[in-house]
Amino acid sequence: MGEIHVAILIGTTREQRKSVYAARLMKEIADTYPEITSELVDPKDFTFEGDGNDPEGKDVRYTEITERADAFLIVTPEYNHSFPGSLKRMLDSELKNYIHKPVAFAGVSSGGWGGVRAIESLVNAVREMGLIATFTDMQFPRVQDLFSEEGKLLDEKYREYPKKLFNELIWMATVLKHGRENVEKIEHK
Ligand SMILES: Cc1cc2nc3c(=O)[nH]c(=O)nc-3n(C[C@H](O)[C@H](O)[C@H](O)COP(=O)(O)O)c2cc1C
Repeated sequence: MGEIHVAILIGTTREQRKSVYAARLMKEIADTYPEITSELVDPKDFTFEGDGNDPEGKDVRYTEITERADAFLIVTPEYNHSFPGSLKRMLDSELKNYIHKPVAFAGVSSGGWGGVRAIESLVNAVREMGLIATFTDMQFPRVQDLFSEEGKLLDEKYREYPKKLFNELIWMATVLKHGRENVEKIEHK
């Protein structure tokens, strides 16, 4: 089938980042669903000038990714109880391509809360972008114990935990895609 294309956003450019292991695992799991095709989006691959979404602040490759995505999955580490600036800068470079598309979240932290505070702070920002936040998050607490130095998953249960997240994301993406393609916007004057 593969009707739902999911852009899986890596949340940081930090050199020693461990959350990238979680993002790669989420892509591996996403690709086991027949409804899904996916791509990993690395903020390291783009250079966004200045701030905001002025034409010079965009990268056409990121614009194209957001255009073809039916859904987003943001895998964010928690930095000082929020999400990294590099993730915000990448998200800020676009606007209209997010509207009426769903977004799910996976949080990653070295502490015990699994990035829940990063996720909670993201909800406000993505709402303003027109994305629809789903309610089935995934957490990777104490990430240093969950993956080896080479990024190998050490606890196989983590392959099972994101089931609800993907089931919900597929459903939301299907419903919203149908809506975007078939339901006229209400424009009362
Ligand atoms: C600037 C900065 C702030 C951080 N703040 C938090 C925090 O508030 N809570 C937490 O559990 N971990 C915090 N961490 C640790 C990260 O959770 C840890 O680095 C983890 O591996 C995920 O981030 P990474 O992908 O950059 O490795 C912080 C890390 C950095 C670099």
